[in-house]
Amino acid sequence: MKERFRRFKDISVSERILNTVFLLTIGLGYLAGLANLYYTHQGLDGKAGLSIEDVVISYHGSNSQTRLGTAVKGIMKPNLRYASDQEVILEWISSGADEPGYIEKVAPILNRDCIICHTPSINPSLPDLTHYAGVAEVAHGGGATIPTLVRVSHIHLFGIAFILFFIGKIFLLCEINVYVKRIAVVIPFAAMLLDVVSWFITKSTPSFAYVVVISGALMGISMGMQIVLSVYQMWFFSRKNAGVNP
Ligand code: HEC
Repeated sequence: MKERFRRFKDISVSERILNTVFLLTIGLGYLAGLANLYYTHQGLDGKAGLSIEDVVISYHGSNSQTRLGTAVKGIMKPNLRYASDQEVILEWISSGADEPGYIEKVAPILNRDCIICHTPSINPSLPDLTHYAGVAEVAHGGGATIPTLVRVSHIHLFGIAFILFFIGKIFLLCEINVYVKRIAVVIPFAAMLLDVVSWFITKSTPSFAYVVVISGALMGISMGMQIVLSVYQMWFFSRKNAGVNP
């Protein structure tokens, strides 16, 4: 005799109600998550709205928006003895602001024009420009730090795994091709993993921002389809077909 697995038509109305309120709440929570993502990431590149550039800046950072770069183009410019030194500093920033370049080209300028004020013993509240570590702090464009990424990954993997597991458990009660089903329950997990891994890669390789967006979208879409199909079959499909497929 063929083994019988539970399907929506086997569960009570109470269980359907519980499943439905759970799925709808998760769906709403996901939409709120998307809105939160929009508000925390949009406009980072200076333009309204969410773009791939915003994603690059939040994980990788941006060499065009450093505090040092902004200062030498703006309020600190008059402190430079030679205007041409501005170019030297900006080029060093955009090429990654490394230590050898600092020692060779940038330290002589800062030591001559800036450290009169930017020394902790004189102005403890100003960026310390007397040594590489202090300068590097204002010469790099931010982006997510490894500890932040590790923390967010931990929260994501733990939290979302639970959510996907329960959504998947309900989705398994659908009447669809079993091969489609077996693949469909894996996709959101795989997409979530790819998303998290690509945050770390985007930190060093900005073009991976596309993978962040595509895998994030794939997780949302696959999860959304499981929710929609489950709710639909629970209330409409299964009753209409009850008894047809015993
Ligand atoms: C006469 C004193 C003085 C000199 C010289 C000086 N600075 Fe400043 N710098 C300041 C003060 C004061 C501030 C704080 C200004 C503010 O927050 O509005 C500041 C702020 C900064 C900041 C931080 C801006 C931010 O994002 O908050 C940077 C970077 C900076 N200076 C770089 C430089 C560089 C590079 C030079 C040399 C070319 C230089 N400064 C020379 C007094 C000085």
